[in-house]
Amino acid sequence: MKKGLLTFMLVFAFMLLLSACGSSQETASGEGSESGKTEEKKTLRVVTDAAYAPFEYQDKGEIVGFDIDFVEAVAKEAGYEVEITNVGWDPLFVEIKDQIADFGVSAITINDDRKETYDFSVPYFLSTNKILVPEGSDISSAEDLKNKVVAVQAGTTGQEAVEGILGKNNKNMKQFENNNLAIMELTSGGADAVVADNTVVEEYVKNNPDQKLVVIEDKDSFEAEYYGLMFPKGSELKADFDEAINNVLDNGTYGEIYNDWFGSDPDVENLKAQQ
Ligand code: ARG
Repeated sequence: MKKGLLTFMLVFAFMLLLSACGSSQETASGEGSESGKTEEKKTLRVVTDAAYAPFEYQDKGEIVGFDIDFVEAVAKEAGYEVEITNVGWDPLFVEIKDQIADFGVSAITINDDRKETYDFSVPYFLSTNKILVPEGSDISSAEDLKNKVVAVQAGTTGQEAVEGILGKNNKNMKQFENNNLAIMELTSGGADAVVADNTVVEEYVKNNPDQKLVVIEDKDSFEAEYYGLMFPKGSELKADFDEAINNVLDNGTYGEIYNDWFGSDPDVENLKAQQ
């Protein structure tokens, strides 16, 4: 009786195994990934938080910025179409984790914490956090942020850096859903400083001279960071995009886009040295 049951279970398990093999073969051949790629380009869902000029922001209802031009050039090089959607910062992480989006571009810093959950492309931009303050402020270093009210975008490396200085859960750190709101808090007098990526705060000062703000650098407190495209863990797209990024770095396309946005030449060698 017992033996009969065991035999039955073994046979059943074997049948399950066979059917599993069969179905995996079916999907492998059914996808036809190779023929699909040559016939028509696959459109990828790319997510961003378009409130971070000059990397990604809205201009007359359109998402524009350095990141957008960069991703379009890289996707073209890799043989894909991209549909870039402004979902916001927190949802971006959720969409990529849940594989709703194919990848994200949003001035996203590559760091160990994020690498536990996501895969990153090779680095494409060098950045660091800086401090935005009103002219005449007595803040001249990160250390000076202690006992000041500091506005940050929640979930950014800027927030992390401020936490390192003020301590966790400090009420003087005000968190916002996007960086524009953090800057508005400063300009409306609700905060003494904003900590965010250098290019973003420098661009803001340049575009808003009437607001009389200045940017403070503190190389000892804020590290060099590198941006990467962020993929779901294990994404097969990473290899294609890494190759395409290296191609646009080498063939001058990256330099052209960089020059369009920043009016200077990028340090491509330094970027490649980080790979
Ligand atoms: N580089 C910083 C980080 O990765 C800030 C990026 C914020 N990007 C944005 N589009 N709001 O944490």
